[in-house]
Amino acid sequence: MTMDRVFPAGFHFGAATSSYQIEGAVAEDGRGPSWWDRFSHTSGNIADGSTGDMACDHYHRVDEDIALMRSLNLNAYRFSVAWPRVVPGGTGAVNPRGLDFYDRLVDRLLAAGLVPYATLYHWDLPQPLAERGGWLNRDTCKAFADYAGLVAQRLGDRVHSYATLNEPRCSAIVGYQEGRHAPGERDRGKALTAAHHLLLAHGLAMPALRAATRTAKLGIVLDVKPYVPADASEASAQAALHADGVFNRWFTEPLFRGTYPADVWEGYGPLVPDVRVGDMTQISQPIDTLGINYYTRGVVRSDATRPFPHAVDVPQPDSRYTAMGWEVAPQGLHDILTRLQADYDLKDVYVAENGAAFDDALAPGPVVHDPERREYYAAHLQAAARALADGVPLTGYMAWSLLDNFEWGWGYTRRFGIVHVDYPTQRRTPKSSALWYRDFIAAQCGPSGAGG
Ligand code: FCB
Repeated sequence: MTMDRVFPAGFHFGAATSSYQIEGAVAEDGRGPSWWDRFSHTSGNIADGSTGDMACDHYHRVDEDIALMRSLNLNAYRFSVAWPRVVPGGTGAVNPRGLDFYDRLVDRLLAAGLVPYATLYHWDLPQPLAERGGWLNRDTCKAFADYAGLVAQRLGDRVHSYATLNEPRCSAIVGYQEGRHAPGERDRGKALTAAHHLLLAHGLAMPALRAATRTAKLGIVLDVKPYVPADASEASAQAALHADGVFNRWFTEPLFRGTYPADVWEGYGPLVPDVRVGDMTQISQPIDTLGINYYTRGVVRSDATRPFPHAVDVPQPDSRYTAMGWEVAPQGLHDILTRLQADYDLKDVYVAENGAAFDDALAPGPVVHDPERREYYAAHLQAAARALADGVPLTGYMAWSLLDNFEWGWGYTRRFGIVHVDYPTQRRTPKSSALWYRDFIAAQCGPSGAGG
């Protein structure tokens, strides 16, 4: 990609992380256990048998990591707040040292010229709530709203943008249907109940966040994926439509229109969740901004032997795939942004995550060369710029991730960082993609990276 200036002044270029994936310090300063501690410590759940106990030791290396971000010209940073640090029991007593940690983080970010984006739930549910049914229990929604409100009371408008949840789809489906994330269940009906409760938790948290802030932008982060049919058949067109419904519309329609999509509702049949009077109004109150996580697209054909949406992925022989087996499909980022804009008339949207895992070789020397990741970023930033040019009110872009980190069920076997982490020594080494991003930001914003 050329370095011509294509993003507007004030655009946020950052990187994203999440608490359990980087912090470590799981038993320090009053943090209680989360269901991810339990899940990762249960044998057979994590590819390399690892846990987030140490992760990137970010809890003790905040200053170093902020300095790193500055050295890369970032002007924004998306982090998540660990609920079990702040309210270790899930409800009830607040742990002041937990709040202090994020309070200091926000101050230090601001002092370094980094705009804070806070996500209030990136999957680390307090274990005591897991024991009371987790997201199958409606009471968890209220517990989340209370916790969200008290974090916002403390951090206030110093945080530029609050997201209630990261990827409710992934929380519900990967955790309750596919069994690959905490709590490790395999039941589609439960997954749909969990998804409804997550959306409701978002809806209950919104007024609590409004009451605690004036200028901060409030919203949610969704994982989105455009689906295209693999062939010209009517059956594959239907499969793509319904796959889109399951992945995208099941979450966007309740949030923006206050209703579940009829075709998917019908497709799920008896598995649909118990929706009570008032739920959809609560879920669909206006948000100020939408964060989207984009990694890949889906190319599907119909397969009637599979459950709804009767779709199966079709590998693309001419495409490149990342170490996750995800197709590199930058145009999809443009397509999903313009489509969301057309469907929901967004006022403000940002890319909350975008990135790729590759098997980086650590050659001797000060830099880790990751040309595939650099190309991935260049192509996706170009797609983002095209979406902007086509009228999408895009305000920020966060690379996933600042650091190699604990990639959930994959443990440390998948590296998404623009900065390499040598886990035994915790040494951070910028990869060539990070240096490319640094120069790209400088070209867009001027060398200070200050967005002006
Ligand atoms: C997203 C998650 C993030 C990370 C990336 C690779 O679904 O939000 O924590 O695992 O995928």
